[in-house]
Amino acid sequence: MNVTPQFVFVTCQVGAGAAVKGEIARACPQWRLAFSRPGFLTFKCPAEPRLSEDFDLQSVFARTYGFSLGTVRGSSPEELARQVWQLAAGLPVRRIHAFPRDTSEPGYRDFEPGLNEAAWAAHAALIQNCPQPALLAPGATDLKRPARRGELVLDCVLVEPTLWCVGYHRAKSIPSRWPGGMMPLELPPDAVSRAWLKTEEALRWSELPIPAGARVAEIGSAPGGSSQALLARGFDVTGIDPAEMHPAVLAHPNFHHLRKRSTQVRRREFRKIRWLVVDMNVTPNYTLTAVEAIVTHPLVNIRGMLLTLKLTDWRLAERVPEYLDRVRSWGYNIVRARQLQHNRREICVAALQKPFRRKPLLRKPARRGQTPPAPQNG
Ligand SMILES: C[S@@+](CC[C@H](N)C(=O)[O-])C[C@H]1O[C@@H](n2cnc3c(N)ncnc32)[C@H](O)[C@@H]1O
Repeated sequence: MNVTPQFVFVTCQVGAGAAVKGEIARACPQWRLAFSRPGFLTFKCPAEPRLSEDFDLQSVFARTYGFSLGTVRGSSPEELARQVWQLAAGLPVRRIHAFPRDTSEPGYRDFEPGLNEAAWAAHAALIQNCPQPALLAPGATDLKRPARRGELVLDCVLVEPTLWCVGYHRAKSIPSRWPGGMMPLELPPDAVSRAWLKTEEALRWSELPIPAGARVAEIGSAPGGSSQALLARGFDVTGIDPAEMHPAVLAHPNFHHLRKRSTQVRRREFRKIRWLVVDMNVTPNYTLTAVEAIVTHPLVNIRGMLLTLKLTDWRLAERVPEYLDRVRSWGYNIVRARQLQHNRREICVAALQKPFRRKPLLRKPARRGQTPPAPQNG
């Protein structure tokens, strides 16, 4: 394809459409909303300047996005797949992503975003009808294998059973490598809460460089699914929560429970902790104020964080840039946010200090007549 298309598609949570529109209105005011459904939006972009193939939408609420080539209608996956390849003629497709748009808010009547049978059938039909199978990457027949960075991915969004949107993107970020930005995570049978999924996805998406054996504090840790994901990576976890932890988590030798509210924990408890995970069921401002009090304390050196900010009201989505600026103001130079597949009405913020510089040690003032100690690095 010599000229990039003028349309862009975006998928998101049902309910997050207004948040996506708000982000795009601020960042790309010339884009115009075109065809849309709950959880699925398309935009018409100006002819010039052309977007690059690997453009970064920099959206918190978009789960995935790419160029849109248009829609196809048909009554069977085979019929639809043949039309898809007509629309995509000439595209050097290496990988095929077929995935449904969300049909409900996460959690509503147990709905969880993810691949479904229709997506597998669509993928199989697309593979079967692919006009240039030799171009496909090794493993492309398996929808659960991620695309490699740089590969051109054909996107097929199952908007309705008989209506697919066809598009493409260049795989780059972690979410862009998975169909619809969704990793195929499965809740382990021994997980004590679905927060396991949220934390596992957050760790994979953020790629925070937390070494095995690192000391991690989790605020809002009960009953403990998230702590289980952290413990499974070999971290030493201090869970802070006034509520009861599940006995299976309490029994883990690397887990310690401080059965308190975050505000009741003495700052020196955080002295040896370098990583913070926060998942409290409170407003974003409450979470940020609680975290600020910890990370800005002179005795505390937190290198990186994963914060869940609950959007108690969708209107708070507009304030996300302000929340991120607040986190940056504490000295975190890498701050990113995403509404994860396993987030409900909430977002995940990943923050990192790179390079990490510990705060200078506090020293008592020298008494009169004493030579002050020589400064030390550390
Ligand atoms: C969504 S649940 C956390 C789920 C947990 N991360 C898991 O993996 O199972 C929210 C938790 O935040 C806790 N919480 C609320 N306010 C808190 C505070 N000020 N300090 C510590 N925990 C708090 C609640 O007790 C509740 O257990």
